[in-house]
Amino acid sequence: MSDLKLLTPLKTDTFEFRNRVFMAPMTRGRSPDRLANDLTVRYYAQRATAGLIISEGTQISEQAIGWMNTPGIHTAEQIDGWRKVTRAVHDAGGLIFAQLWHTGRASHPDFHGGGLPVAPSAVPFNSQAFTPEGPKPAVTPRAMTLEEIHSTILDYEAAARAAKAAGFDGVEVHGANGYLPAQFLEDGPNKRTDAYGGPIENRARFLLEATDAAIRVFGPSRVSVRLSPRIPYNDMGDSNLEGTYMFAVEALEAKKVGLLHFMEPAQLPDGLKRLAPEARKRFSGLFIVNVGYDRESGERAVMTDLADAVTFGTLFISNPDLPERFRRSAALAPSEPSSYYVGDEQGYTDYPPLG
Ligand SMILES: Cc1cc2nc3c(=O)[nH]c(=O)nc-3n(C[C@H](O)[C@H](O)[C@H](O)COP(=O)(O)O)c2cc1C
Repeated sequence: MSDLKLLTPLKTDTFEFRNRVFMAPMTRGRSPDRLANDLTVRYYAQRATAGLIISEGTQISEQAIGWMNTPGIHTAEQIDGWRKVTRAVHDAGGLIFAQLWHTGRASHPDFHGGGLPVAPSAVPFNSQAFTPEGPKPAVTPRAMTLEEIHSTILDYEAAARAAKAAGFDGVEVHGANGYLPAQFLEDGPNKRTDAYGGPIENRARFLLEATDAAIRVFGPSRVSVRLSPRIPYNDMGDSNLEGTYMFAVEALEAKKVGLLHFMEPAQLPDGLKRLAPEARKRFSGLFIVNVGYDRESGERAVMTDLADAVTFGTLFISNPDLPERFRRSAALAPSEPSSYYVGDEQGYTDYPPLG
């Protein structure tokens, strides 16, 4: 037996999570027709002992697509596919949220019949896109019109409705890792001069409206928002990271959002101020940390009250029964990066649980 706090239940008015070992959202590139399939069902059911599973990023619309072989949550067929996943997770006693994803400028013309991906502004973008033909240099996107912004917010609402129809327990607005809401939030990629650009009150508007869209469907307690101030991935940057993100956290607190999923490496380079404790102070819902945690550092995070729960990514890829391994202090299987984003069962559903 183990007396890890990580393995104790976490109760809110809405949920009883069976432990604090949550599964981080992970794109696995195994949906060639953009549907969750039988393999997806098996993969998530194998990991249902997590306190909460957050699904891989699921596109909210055609325009949101920006990664090869990733599933969506905007058609009837996609809802049917996901319904099998949520049923299998629930049958195994688990809970699962859908992560709502719009890639914005991180997409590529190959996904849009040659058309440009959309973004807050047409700012040159130094990154790469993951196209059906492999990684390609990213392109300079086209700035969204106000009408497109408004219709994209409606896409978030429709996707949340689809997630509800598919049986998800809640949704996570993907506001991290340099995708569309983060592109609005940070002043590097956002050079707009209308109501969605300029001061932080305006730059945060897109993220907050997308969050409101999810709240209209699920209510605030079943909505998570993921933020990643310390992740420069996708050519991100902001002139006042702390101010920008603390504004966003306070605004999410005002909306009584249920979960804040805060990415900040457990080991930050020397000299960089930790923003997670600042965010934690400002947020009264469930505060979840991620990036680089293991059994010991995760336990420390919940014991010191930095967080209510911890999400584990790569450890859940190769250790489907991660909470049980933590309980037994068992050895952890290493995961194989070459099969993270491509392939079939191998490196996906073939990691065995403990005997
Ligand atoms: C294969 C892979 C796919 C990922 N896909 C997503 C994703 O779809 N959405 C997201 O928010 N983060 C994604 N991430 C980031 C993870 O959620 C997580 O932040 C990262 O793995 C760090 O956590 P860890 O140190 O516990 O692995 C992905 C990471 C990996 C390794």
